[in-house]
Amino acid sequence: MSTGSTGHYDAAWQRTLLCGQARPEHIGQPAVVNGWLRCRRDLGGIIFLELWDYTGVLQVVFNPEIQKEAHERASSMRSEYVLAVRGRIAKRPEGTENASLRTGAVELIAEDLLLLSPSKPIPFELDEDTDRVDENLRLRYRYLDLRRDGMQKNLRVRHKTTMFTRNYFDRHGFIEIETPMLTKSTPEGARDYLVPSRVNPGHFYALPQSPQIFKQILMVSGCDRYFQVVKCFRDEDLRADRQPEFTQIDVEMSYITEGDIQKLIEGFMCGLFEEVLGIKIPAPFGRLTWKEAMDLYGSDKPDLRIPLAMCPLGEVFAGGENPFRELLAAGGAVKGLRLPGGAALSRKEFTDLELRAKELGAKGMANFQFKEGELKGPLVKFLNDAQKQKLVEIAELGDQDALFVMADADWQKACSILGQIRLELGASRGLVVPGWAFLWVTDFPLFEWDADAGRWTAVHHPFTSPKEEDLEYLTTDPGRVRARAYDLVLNGNEVGGGSIRIHNPQVQAQAFGALGLTEEIARDRFGFMLDALSFGTPPHGGIALGVDRIVMLLCGEKSIRDVIAFPKTQKAQCLLSGAPSDVDAGQLEELFIRSVIPDPKE
Ligand code: AMO
Repeated sequence: MSTGSTGHYDAAWQRTLLCGQARPEHIGQPAVVNGWLRCRRDLGGIIFLELWDYTGVLQVVFNPEIQKEAHERASSMRSEYVLAVRGRIAKRPEGTENASLRTGAVELIAEDLLLLSPSKPIPFELDEDTDRVDENLRLRYRYLDLRRDGMQKNLRVRHKTTMFTRNYFDRHGFIEIETPMLTKSTPEGARDYLVPSRVNPGHFYALPQSPQIFKQILMVSGCDRYFQVVKCFRDEDLRADRQPEFTQIDVEMSYITEGDIQKLIEGFMCGLFEEVLGIKIPAPFGRLTWKEAMDLYGSDKPDLRIPLAMCPLGEVFAGGENPFRELLAAGGAVKGLRLPGGAALSRKEFTDLELRAKELGAKGMANFQFKEGELKGPLVKFLNDAQKQKLVEIAELGDQDALFVMADADWQKACSILGQIRLELGASRGLVVPGWAFLWVTDFPLFEWDADAGRWTAVHHPFTSPKEEDLEYLTTDPGRVRARAYDLVLNGNEVGGGSIRIHNPQVQAQAFGALGLTEEIARDRFGFMLDALSFGTPPHGGIALGVDRIVMLLCGEKSIRDVIAFPKTQKAQCLLSGAPSDVDAGQLEELFIRSVIPDPKE
């Protein structure tokens, strides 16, 4: 028998069973298990160790009457020590089974114990109650944080997702092609991460914000159907669903139209959900134009699990004296949001909701209450009977409903703010119906006005094709041009976005023109791509899906950080490795770089 704590890890100590796999069918069989000591209980001379590996935990019993030495060694084992235990699987005594554990009907009766590696005391408990632990601490000790069932499950769902992806696209005739990481700026609208070139002093690579240009060039090359599971890098403000480096399932196809891509992606999503969650998602998914999505839900990524929609109230307020008449005459909008049963809200609740709307940028938010056939609220005095009747009809008010009213000179602003209130009411009043709400949002505007820069910018990227019927406005009224672009939305999250691309050089030149890019600038930034497109370009289009967001939803998590092994914080730092960090002066010198950090006191 081994001497235990100083023993050598050889074949005799290699596991014959994973901790989480012990089942009643193993009862009576000898077994060796290897794993981390999750918890130790000493009970009346008997010691229980819970041994953990990625498959789960197994209760191991050390009885001094069975093996005295092993029992003695077990008494000095601490949390997260790595152990090997030899013994025999037994049925747990009547009444001590643990139904919440998959191994809860059995235990390992230990005959020998080998300490493989001790552990320092760990800085936080490795249970599933992660809310109690500061996330920065979890990220600093990510290797420990990952040593939990929940995180192990998430990593495995992610693996399943990328495995399924590769098989699915392979089955549909796509080939995975890698594109450069050290490249030139790509046009997704965020800031670039730059990498200096030592051998080209003063010159920089940009890490790709997406493989957009390369995948289009691959279509020119005749590759026909490309996909890639690929890292992308964007220096932008971070949120729960945004990381500076994230992963896309990037797709591009030749000789197709929107419908082909959408069908392909619907098949992918349905297959993935069946594979990972074992559930059937109905297809085709619903479709809303961007304008409809904004009008009804005040968002370009509406969460359709919330059964509330907005209604247009312009017709009600267009006539008579009321505070919104002028704003409507000048092209503004009045939008309504019905809250069933909302008439019962307290005065304070109405005030708080209005305060929230103001926080979001509204000038105010009025409300009506409909009680026993009577409309109440501060705006009632401005409406005649016909207007009241119309309001009740348009908003479909039922007894005890409330109606929130948002007016603004800017239609999009009125929609967005009320849309945000819709989301918050949905969450706070428990209105979110559990399930999976997939949706395509189509017909985005091609351009949006950037008031700070005083110019049009691309809503997606400058290679997005305008809709044929809007081509005439490309030079005359860019704000009116709709794009052949589509986003995939799931439960209020943008999980994918793509478009049919411009393959006509003339249209491309007009699009650059509308973006204020002179021919010279366009050539400087995208010349290599424009050259490629001039050598025979098939009609093509594609999409990119956000792996992190999809896996987050599959795992029921609220942040993509929980499905990335080594994520960054809100400040784009990796607390585990300490990146970004100082570098040697010598390294900078080699790169011909001097850093000029402003003095915070100045
Ligand atoms: P887009 O910019 O819409 O399209 O990105 C595609 C999808 O990637 C995910 N995503 C992100 N996920 C985590 N963190 C981020 N910072 C982040 N940014 C984007 C989203 C998004 O829907 N080249 C185009 C695609 C195309 O036109 O084919 C593109 O990158 O889920």
